[in-house]
Amino acid sequence: MLNFDFSLAFKENLGTGVTYEEILERSEVASEALKKVIDAKPGFIRILETKEYLEEVKNLTSWFANFENVVVLGIGGSALGNIALHNSLKPLNWNLTDFDRKGKARVFVVDNVDPEFVNAVLSKIDLSRTLFNVISKSGTTAEAMANYLVVRGFLDKAGLSPAEHLLFTTDPEKGVLRTIARKEGIKTLTIPEDVGGRFSILTPVGLASAFAEGINIDALYIGARHGLERYKNLKASENPLILNALLHLEAINSGKNISVMMPYSNRLYSLADWYRQLWAESLGKRFDRDGREVFTGQTPVKALGAVDQHSQVQLYNEGPKDKIITFLKLENFSTDYEIPALHNDIEALSYLGGKKLSTLLNSEQYGTALALAKNGVPNLTVTFPELNEENVGEFILYYELLTATMGELLHINPYDQPGVELGKKITYGLMGRKSYEDFLKEYSGDNWRLKL
Ligand code: PA5
Repeated sequence: MLNFDFSLAFKENLGTGVTYEEILERSEVASEALKKVIDAKPGFIRILETKEYLEEVKNLTSWFANFENVVVLGIGGSALGNIALHNSLKPLNWNLTDFDRKGKARVFVVDNVDPEFVNAVLSKIDLSRTLFNVISKSGTTAEAMANYLVVRGFLDKAGLSPAEHLLFTTDPEKGVLRTIARKEGIKTLTIPEDVGGRFSILTPVGLASAFAEGINIDALYIGARHGLERYKNLKASENPLILNALLHLEAINSGKNISVMMPYSNRLYSLADWYRQLWAESLGKRFDRDGREVFTGQTPVKALGAVDQHSQVQLYNEGPKDKIITFLKLENFSTDYEIPALHNDIEALSYLGGKKLSTLLNSEQYGTALALAKNGVPNLTVTFPELNEENVGEFILYYELLTATMGELLHINPYDQPGVELGKKITYGLMGRKSYEDFLKEYSGDNWRLKL
């Protein structure tokens, strides 16, 4: 179960901002927002009530066993969850050639269309032992489709049957992937219609590659379900979801437009990346639900402790007071080092001797949190007692629910992303896609330019 520490987020310890009492006075509105979200049963909650998606993935167990590699081809919500599960729940050296994976697959996620990045993966795997999991809900995303076509070209060249090496994860009915799959007998997994990309980590989008590499997907669901019960039932004064929503709302309303997530664990770092998309795309909106122009949202930033203490923390302490910081802390690391007691005559080294590396890392986290508080920067800490499926499942549910509750409090729709459409359409125009020629016109021809 996750632990939360909000002590350094309130005026009592910060000397600035809001007090716990003041936040509690507003708790009714947040409780109502949370209830409204849960009662509406959005897809990311509904899926937890069924075993359907877990079973759909588990049905492929014997097929997955044929492969040494699973390569995910997708982007945004069709990739970030896979990366987050892979990094947080497998050892960091899992994909290295000499790692004993006990028959489970290596997992690579090719999201970008940077040719050097694509090549770095494709040139180093044995295609005949690789399953390509093409993930796209719409089946129109240029990056995912381009990488699919590249891979398909590779398979054709190697004389490998597409139906034996491709798995499509897509909308139950719509889209080109569904059409191709039907025509060519390619296996498919479902992205439920009521689950949007960035909320889809616990659908077959995230579950399939996780399962193939040996992650316990049932335990992910247990953690998420447990989280839902926990945050649904706790009274406001002790509810980490309600308190965090109100703290972030207060931050937004007082000009703190940046929300930093700073894990002190390399394995937790990709969860901050997943959060970044969730928070940015869900809450960054021009119009509210009544069509009023609001330009709301909060810029999510990820940082890694202790590395970014030597890069970002100076700014966080002394720069503009425009941030609220969330630390992610891991209590028990799966492995640790005791620092040897050497150079006992050199004071700058001797104090480290006999201490664990994890003790140093977590002391740095607490030190940074206290220093930020002394500088009036609100911060809170989410602690994973250990890194396992149940805790990661709870974390996922917590942030999905928090984001949707924030959407309710900000009176915007957290489930759409109209702001990314125009750029996509212009790209289609640039790439010569039929019917998109007009999207280029405005900035082509005689338009003013400053190119240096
Ligand atoms: O959250 C979202 O809906 C987006 O970020 C999508 O996940 C992303 O654009 C990829 O879309 P698709 O799965 O349709 O390829």
